Amino acid sequence: MSLAGLGGAAAQTQARPKMHRFERQPLTVANFEAEGHVLDIGGGGEGIIGRMKPSQVVAIDLYKNELMESPAGPLKIVMDATDMKFLDAQFATATAFFSLMYMQPEVQKKVFAETARVLKSGGRWLIWDAVIPILTDPGMEQGTKGPVFYFEFHLPQEVVKTGYGTLWPQVRLDLPYYLSLAEGAGFQILAAVETPGQFRTFRLELRKA
Ligand SMILES: C[S@@+](CC[C@H](N)C(=O)[O-])C[C@H]1O[C@@H](n2cnc3c(N)ncnc32)[C@H](O)[C@@H]1O
Repeated sequence: MSLAGLGGAAAQTQARPKMHRFERQPLTVANFEAEGHVLDIGGGGEGIIGRMKPSQVVAIDLYKNELMESPAGPLKIVMDATDMKFLDAQFATATAFFSLMYMQPEVQKKVFAETARVLKSGGRWLIWDAVIPILTDPGMEQGTKGPVFYFEFHLPQEVVKTGYGTLWPQVRLDLPYYLSLAEGAGFQILAAVETPGQFRTFRLELRKA
């Protein structure tokens, strides 16, 4: 399980904080069409997108250790998604697989602007993430630092079990929140699909105008 969202390396050297644990749930991750390089933002950890398109993915992550954990195949680069070193309009496809949940809202805003910058006109950004409640929402365990979501990902070629933990946000990170962020960064919404379960997940398909 990855807890890098809890302040990065510092969190990994301290005792594990008490977390609200959601029961494991399955999620099917369907193959998607992409030509050329695919920029995978926060592509360390399980490296799910890199597993699906190893020869196309350029995986960037804030932490070297997260990239070292993920399977070989993609081109891996330590890079902050709020300040990418790519020139403008380099990619036709970008992805973020449960990466936005590790970022604070002010960081997310910069990442949306940067992703719009490095995508070509008409380029797509595919996002998978969880709806993150706030601590005061019904059913959330008081005294916990944040939620942990356990998954069984069903990919076209394999099944991967993992869990992602983060801190409770100040604002609920739900689909309306992300749609507003996307529109504010100039993206068109091609698809926005929420999946119910023990916890809610969603898939967004955005297009750079
Ligand atoms: C849930 S984890 C990994 C999810 C990963 N996509 C997978 O397939 O397992 C989210 C990742 O986002 C990375 N991350 C957080 N903030 C970032 C930033 N500003 N730039 C790049 N990566 C970031 C974290 O280091 C972490 O590895």
